[in-house]
Amino acid sequence: MSELRTGRLVLRQWRDSDLDPFAALNADPEVMRHFPGTLSREQSDDLARAIVTAIDALGWGLWAVEVQGGPEFIGFVGLAEPGFEAHFTPAVEVGWRLAREHWGHGYATEAAQAAIDFGFDELELPEIVSMTTPQNVRSRRVMERLGMTRDPCDDFDHPRIPDGPLRRHVLYRLKR
Ligand SMILES: CC(C)(COP(=O)(O)OP(=O)(O)OC[C@H]1O[C@@H](n2cnc3c(N)ncnc32)[C@H](O)[C@@H]1OP(=O)(O)O)[C@@H](O)C(=O)NCCC(=O)NCCS
Repeated sequence: MSELRTGRLVLRQWRDSDLDPFAALNADPEVMRHFPGTLSREQSDDLARAIVTAIDALGWGLWAVEVQGGPEFIGFVGLAEPGFEAHFTPAVEVGWRLAREHWGHGYATEAAQAAIDFGFDELELPEIVSMTTPQNVRSRRVMERLGMTRDPCDDFDHPRIPDGPLRRHVLYRLKR
């Protein structure tokens, strides 16, 4: 299992002690503003278990993010294969979700850069994508800081999200 280190962060496999702070951030309407809803404790634990299983199987995934010498769990950042079909799949995406109190420090971009480097250098991926709703400006800014670019021709309706204002998605791409 790969553990990644950056100047300030460790991206690592999850621990049981991550489940409480993960449930708290998944229950925060501000964190989940661009998703269909907040998650219950059970949904949050199920998601964490699925992420842990994927990391165990592949050696990489949506790592738990720890600040060195600071909070042991601030959220997740990493790589995942979208579990749905779209014009750009199969693909590997880079994604992130941090607790509100840890926004505004550059942690998401720093961790995502390490995940991207791992994807290109170790997995030798030809391309990494990222996606969100057009309104999720903070997330789009992370994508842009990472050098990812969006072509409006790639915009798509997310097949897992019901009809409504969150269905339309923008796609960002980065080539190796
Ligand atoms: C998307 C999300 C991860 C972005 O977090 P973020 O903290 O804004 O992103 P970054 O880590 O890139 O931090 C950048 C900010 O840190 C600031 N910053 C402070 N210290 C910094 C440092 N040492 N280095 C870099 N940036 C620093 C930057 O100025 C910038 O602030 P600004 O947005 O006010 O201009 C976060 O908003 C989130 O978890 N959202 C909810 C989940 C979500 O929507 N996920 C995406 C679904 S697709």
